[in-house]
Amino acid sequence: MTESPTPAPRPIAGPDQPPIPRREPARRQPGLFERIGGREVVDRVATDFYDRVYQDPILRPMFPDDREAGRLKQAEFLEQWLGGAPRYSEKWGHPRLRMRHFPFVIDERSAGRWLRHMTEALRACGVGEQEVQEVLVDLGPLARHMVNADQDVPREPLGDVRLS
Ligand code: HEM
Repeated sequence: MTESPTPAPRPIAGPDQPPIPRREPARRQPGLFERIGGREVVDRVATDFYDRVYQDPILRPMFPDDREAGRLKQAEFLEQWLGGAPRYSEKWGHPRLRMRHFPFVIDERSAGRWLRHMTEALRACGVGEQEVQEVLVDLGPLARHMVNADQDVPREPLGDVRLS
């Protein structure tokens, strides 16, 4: 029996290879943060979202009893992610959200519940349906990206290290 020849390894980069594209940060529609209502509304969304999460029997056990530090991080991140000031990264460095979520076993069901609470929080805070849909276009895939339940990832808490 003849063995199929092993293909020659492709060069990772070289003169005749296109450079590996940089992963660009996702771009929200221009002005989305302002259209949502700016910092005041985003802060209310984070509070409302956290109220929902802490009332959710599936998600609640993952979260610490003291909720304010997490709520604030969520507000800072959301503002930055929606196109406002980079408040999260100034304090905590690069978000690397997937890695920061490794300590929590997140399956599809819990990611779906997380996303539903965020959607309902946006609506409850008066964000218009057009803006809600613009948020979900990117937030849906991001929530799915956090799913790690069946993956062999390190589960040790990162603490408040800066990952810059
Ligand atoms: C779009 C998806 C998500 C975003 C944007 C997001 C965002 C964040 C951010 C910014 C933090 C703070 C990270 C830090 O600096 O320590 C955080 C923490 C956390 N997230 Fe998420 N998250 C997402 C999905 C999820 C999902 C699906 C779950 C679980 C179902 C989850 C559970 C948690 C928990 C338990 C914490 C720690 C809270 C604390 O220590 O107070 N997240 N998340």
